Amino acid sequence: MSTDRDIKSTPRGFHCILCDVKLPNLPSLDQHVKGKKHQTLSTVRATRQSQAERGVFVTGVKPDTSEADLADYFQRFGEVAHIVLDKDKGQFAIVHFAEPETVQAALSCVEHRMKNLKLKVKPREKKAFKFIHKQKLDPQNLQQVFEQLKPELGELLSVDAQMQFVVERFQLRENEKKARSLFVQLLQEVFVEFFPDSQILPFGSSVNTFGIHACDLDLFLDLENTKMFQARAKSSTEQTGEGMSDDGRSEDSILSDIDLSSASSAEVLELVATILKRCVPSVQRVHVVSTARLPVVKFHHRELNLQGDITINNKLAVRNTRFLQLCTGMENRLRPLVFTIRCWAKQKQLAGNPSGAGPLLNNYALTLLVIFYLQNCDPPVLPTVNHLKDMACEEEECVIEGWNCTFPTQPIAVPPSTNTQNLSTLLAGFFSFYASFDFTSSVISLREGRAIPITDFLCQDEESDMIQDEGPIKAHPTKPKLGPLNLLDPFEVSHNVAANLNERSHRSFQRECQEAHKYCRSLQYQQKSTKGKLWGLVRLLTPQGENSQTRAEQTSISIPFKLASLPETLREQLQTSGEDFWHLWFHKVCSAVEEVLTHVLKCQLTASPCAVFADDSTVAAEEMETSSASLKSSVNDSFDSVGSQSESSPLKPVVGGKRPLSSGSDASVSPQGKKQRLLKKKAKAQLPPWICVLQHLVWAGRRKVRRELMKNTNSQPEGSCLEIESQVTAYIIEKEPELKEPLEFKVLPQMMGGTESTQTVLRLEPVSDRTGVFQDFFHFLHPFLPRMVETLLGKDEGNEK
Ligand code: UTP
Repeated sequence: MSTDRDIKSTPRGFHCILCDVKLPNLPSLDQHVKGKKHQTLSTVRATRQSQAERGVFVTGVKPDTSEADLADYFQRFGEVAHIVLDKDKGQFAIVHFAEPETVQAALSCVEHRMKNLKLKVKPREKKAFKFIHKQKLDPQNLQQVFEQLKPELGELLSVDAQMQFVVERFQLRENEKKARSLFVQLLQEVFVEFFPDSQILPFGSSVNTFGIHACDLDLFLDLENTKMFQARAKSSTEQTGEGMSDDGRSEDSILSDIDLSSASSAEVLELVATILKRCVPSVQRVHVVSTARLPVVKFHHRELNLQGDITINNKLAVRNTRFLQLCTGMENRLRPLVFTIRCWAKQKQLAGNPSGAGPLLNNYALTLLVIFYLQNCDPPVLPTVNHLKDMACEEEECVIEGWNCTFPTQPIAVPPSTNTQNLSTLLAGFFSFYASFDFTSSVISLREGRAIPITDFLCQDEESDMIQDEGPIKAHPTKPKLGPLNLLDPFEVSHNVAANLNERSHRSFQRECQEAHKYCRSLQYQQKSTKGKLWGLVRLLTPQGENSQTRAEQTSISIPFKLASLPETLREQLQTSGEDFWHLWFHKVCSAVEEVLTHVLKCQLTASPCAVFADDSTVAAEEMETSSASLKSSVNDSFDSVGSQSESSPLKPVVGGKRPLSSGSDASVSPQGKKQRLLKKKAKAQLPPWICVLQHLVWAGRRKVRRELMKNTNSQPEGSCLEIESQVTAYIIEKEPELKEPLEFKVLPQMMGGTESTQTVLRLEPVSDRTGVFQDFFHFLHPFLPRMVETLLGKDEGNEK
């Protein structure tokens, strides 16, 4: 049954094409061919081939057509062995005859009429048999899981039901919780052997009620009691003089290797890593990350397929996990909201930094944003942290590292909310709340349940949240690191949990909130589609890449007009160009972009917009002649003022904003005449694209190559960094292999903005990206290209007309 064609010899042995298996030598090949998989697939293939030879494909049947009807009809050509009916839609059938010759008889009949139906009978398509590996579903691959859930979600009757469904399908299962808890017990037993009186405590998603399948296991190794144990042991050995080594430590435990009162976190974590590697079964890939805000030991548990982190000095995390549990206990709408919003944020690539560090929101921050929104609903769904503190009794008082972490232990102590809004309304409210939230000038405080104006916040009494009589005030700064999104931890209020966000990720978050807010106002969100269209959560949770507008914005690079950084000669040229300054500047930018693409990055260009400027400049010259003197003076005025511009006008196509560089006082210009010119120029505000081809990963490892080159030459090569950059590219091209398939992309240049915010926007789009490298290339190019263009423009000493 197995044919010679199934086996191909390769430089490394053999390849069984039928089973898609590689085999190193003849004995293993022999074993494979006799084995179960190969035998089964050979049989399946033979059966399929024989069926194909004996079968016909029939269309024109109806959903109520039965197998018996078909068998009855086709019997007249020969014995019918088996019938397959299209169960879903009842549009086709496959009729298998007992003998292959019968097929010909059925096919040669000109017209097939069965009862009132006119059937069409065709031979079966001959498809090569191919074994398809079953793909394992990765529970953490949200996109994959979501794709599977879409049909079921769409069938539900309301957004509320959809949100509950998301919780049911994503939440950590009972067996997963059990396995984790047993593993934590095992770790406890191991660690206590080495660190007497220590405690290992889970925190984060495993236990905070928001965990999804296969989420990380965050653990805190509390060594407070071990420190005391060590201090006691030390003092008793000092008194008795027994069991002491030269340096005065106890000799019979691992503690003799370290003094916990003075060791650094990294040293302690190295020890923790050693214990994990040597003493905990199934633990692998253990390593210490000491550069994180809180140093951590990372590991992977093979059997549980679980990623774990162990930190020390992280009592606050255990406490804030307790706080999240309390919130879930107080308000049962919180979980569906958090699950849905986490899911949305992940799909839109707003949250979840894969390696821990990165510019996106972490899940903790996202959860706090949901809680803050619920504190601000009318009436509030959740109380402020300060209110919770007041509701706690004396025994519940809790201070950690000087921060007041008091709240009631039991949800029952908190009066229920009077807010009765359903989940769908609350979800829409979340998007609406953050769509218009003024992030730049406020600091979000869950303690106070309000957005504190940034100016008030900076004037606040620095130590008001610290408990000063609880030991020494902490050494870390009491003011958080402020950024585009300021979200204070509810307890450690000197920590901005969103401090890692950059401008771009913050903007994406707000833009996606605005998009979602818009969508939530549509009928498609609120009502189940009667026509089977995507509705409710299904559309809301559609991955980010599937929204073309967002994609366009995310693959654009902008080069702003910065008069101050241009050389004197170019400034003069621009000044004398009058209203056409923008045209000249755009031309300069485009030429510089082309130079970076071709000379610095060694892209091959198959099309270039710069050629268009040749024709364009004639029109520009004509127009310049007709420019009025008043216009020129207005240009000159504005040249003086551009350097000190502080307000920027919103982005808009240059057609409405192609004023000279004035700050708005262009009353001297005839609006009519100007409009004419502007309309004429609009066509040139967007040019045809560059079509570029890259054969190498010229962006990978550049920093290292640059460092090497600079070291070897001892100084910067003649010229500027542009030359180093092109040398770096040349080096990479020489040393690194070519991409299997070249990356082809287009770059579309466009002039945008009003006078003050004039900019060249380059929209990038992959044309052919079979190796999937476009995104990486874009991330490299995003800061690189504007920097290079600026350098090139700065170099331009007026040698262009
Ligand atoms: P994560 O952001 O990882 O949240 O923080 P998570 O809920 O565990 O989500 P996964 O792991 O991505 O599924 C884990 C925990 O770390 C603490 C909090 O206790 C949080 O629950 N944490 C995180 C802080 O205390 N501060 C921070 O800034 C971030």
